[in-house]
Amino acid sequence: MTSLEPLLVRAARREQTERTPVWFMRQAGRVLPEYRAIRERLTLVEISERPEVAVQVTLQPLRRMPLDAAILFADIMTPLIGAGVALDIVEGVGPVIESPVRDEAAVRALHPLEPEIDVPHVLEALRILRRELDPAQALIGFAGAPFTLAAYLVEGRPSRDFVRTKSLMYGAPAVWHELMERLTSLTIAYLSAQISAGADVIQLFDSWVGALSPDDYRRYVQPYTRRIFAALGPADVPMIHFGVTTATLLTAMRNDGGTVIGLDWRTPLDEGWAQVGHDLAVQGNLDPAVLFAPREVVEAKVVDVLRKAAGRPGHIFNLGHGILPHTPLDNAIAAAELVHEKSARTEELEPIVAASE
Ligand code: CP3
Repeated sequence: MTSLEPLLVRAARREQTERTPVWFMRQAGRVLPEYRAIRERLTLVEISERPEVAVQVTLQPLRRMPLDAAILFADIMTPLIGAGVALDIVEGVGPVIESPVRDEAAVRALHPLEPEIDVPHVLEALRILRRELDPAQALIGFAGAPFTLAAYLVEGRPSRDFVRTKSLMYGAPAVWHELMERLTSLTIAYLSAQISAGADVIQLFDSWVGALSPDDYRRYVQPYTRRIFAALGPADVPMIHFGVTTATLLTAMRNDGGTVIGLDWRTPLDEGWAQVGHDLAVQGNLDPAVLFAPREVVEAKVVDVLRKAAGRPGHIFNLGHGILPHTPLDNAIAAAELVHEKSARTEELEPIVAASE
C-alpha cells in the first residue's frame, strides 16, 4: 500500500524515497502567462468558485514544471468568504475587509463554516483534481492559520506592524481568544472537508506569525494551532505548518502537532531542521529571489539546500516563501529539474552527503 502513496506523502512521513519531492508555494497564480490569460476574464474569486476553471489553474504549473504536488487554487480568505465575511481580494494589495473585526459584536457575528454548503466549489475542485492527477503526485489542501486570518480581519488590509491586531490581543484578550476560537473551529471544519474530498496533504499557512515574540506566540496562538493539528491528526495525512520569519518560533512550533515544518530561507535548512528535530520532516527553503539570479547561482543554491538536507529522510524541497511575480520561468523549471536530478538516490548523491559531514 505504502508504495502507492504519492512521493511527497512518503517523504513527509520520513520514509526513504527515490528522490526529494519538490513544489513551489504559490506556484499556480503568480508566474504563468496562461494564468494571467484566464485572469483577464475572471477574478480570483470567480475562478475559485468555478471548479472546472480552478482545476485547470491548479494543474497549469504541473504541465510546465516537473513538480510533485498540486496545490488547490483558492486563497486563504476563501473560507471566510464562504462564512459570509464581506471582503475583496485586490490585485497587487491582497485581502481588504469591508468592516474590520475589532470588537466583541463583530467577533460574535462570525459564523461557523459548513463546508459542503458554504464552499462546495472547493470540495468539488479537490475531488476532480484527485481523479486527474497522476497517483505519484500529491494533492495539497490548505488553509490560513487563525493568527494570519485574524490579522487580516482585524487590520482590514495587509499590514506591516500589526498594531491593531496586537492592540486587540493585549487590550481585549477575551475578545482575541473568542476570535481565535471561532477561526480555529472554521479552519478545522474546512481542512477536514478538504481531506475528505481528496487532499493527500494539508498545509497551514501562518504567513505572518513571525511578527510575534515566542512568549506571545505561546500565549495567544499556540493553543489554537495545537487544537487544529490535534483535531486533524486522526485523518493521518501529513500536515505542513508554515510561517515566515519563524526562526525564534521553531522550537515552539515543533510541539504543535504539524508533521512537517516549513522553513523560510532566513534559517539555514540544517540549523532549522536541528531546531525542529530530525523526528519531524521539513519543507523548504530556497530564497524565492534566487530564481532571478544567473543560472549558475540558481544551481549552486539549489544544491546547497540539498546538501544541508544531507539526504536525510523527510525533506520536501520548496522555496522559503511564495514564488515571486515575474520570476523567470526557465529558472523555476531548471530548479525543479535539478532537485530531481541531484537528489536521485544513487551514487551521485554521495558527494552531496559527504560534503555536508
Ligand atoms: O498561487 C497559488 O499557488 C494559488 C493559490 C493561492 C492563492 N493565495 C491565490 C491568490 C495560495 C496558496 C494563496 C495563499 C495566500 N494568500 C497566503 C499564504 C501564502 C503566502 O504567500 O504567505 C496569503 C498570506 C494570502 C493572502 C493574499 N492573497 C495576498 C497577500 C494577496 C496579494 C498578493 C499576492 O498576489 O499574493 C492575495 C491575492 C491572491 N491570492 C492572488 C492569487 C493568485 C493574486 C491576485 C489576483 O490574481 O487577483
